[in-house]
Amino acid sequence: TVAKSTNILWHKNSVDKRDRQQLLQQKGCVIWITGLSGSGKSTLACALSQALHWRGKLTYILDGDNCRHGLNRDLSFKAEDRVENIRRIGEVAKLFADAGVICIACLISPYRKDRDACRSMLPEGDFIEVFMDVPLQVCEARDPKGLYKLAREGKVKGFTGIDDPYEPPLNCEIVLKQTGDDCPSPADMVETVVSYLDDNGFLR
Ligand code: PPS
Repeated sequence: TVAKSTNILWHKNSVDKRDRQQLLQQKGCVIWITGLSGSGKSTLACALSQALHWRGKLTYILDGDNCRHGLNRDLSFKAEDRVENIRRIGEVAKLFADAGVICIACLISPYRKDRDACRSMLPEGDFIEVFMDVPLQVCEARDPKGLYKLAREGKVKGFTGIDDPYEPPLNCEIVLKQTGDDCPSPADMVETVVSYLDDNGFLR
């Protein structure tokens, strides 16, 4: 996006990120959950948020679907609007991380370039990309909202995985692979992410 504001200066605040992190006893970061519709992004986000809350850690979920009810209500599912959806959620997630919060963003975010742009907004290491590696057939069989069926019938156009692209991450922090028979439970997946946070000093 081209910056259109001119004559603006950054105002430095006296209470900074380190102070807030000290207060919260955690390190602000963005856990970015990407994957097809029906891959379990929101389920993982909720379970993860709950587990961290129980440990006394402050989290906030930015769910693509939910943000489209407000912040992103002016955006459709055409490519340029998805790009803007990802950018806006990336910017808001960055603010939450700066507030010291463990921000969990869960949206399809189908384009690698745009996810990488969100990564580059944050300090090194603070963007944790989690790929819900679930085959299209599995997501389609689940079809929790009946949208795959509508997409196959041509009643929903440009549906991710059917007639719109999804670019899987090439080198992300966490891959959660789910196949028909060998499916980790949401609790297993939460454990994997929490261990990552623990091992990397986000939950001190
Ligand atoms: S994106 O691609 O990141 O901008 O999408 P996102 O904001 O995560 O919104 C995805 C949810 O919107 C519903 N939906 C669609 N998904 C993909 N393609 C099309 N055309 C579409 N139309 C509606 C769908 O329920 C997605 O929900 P999830 O939670 O991912 O299943």
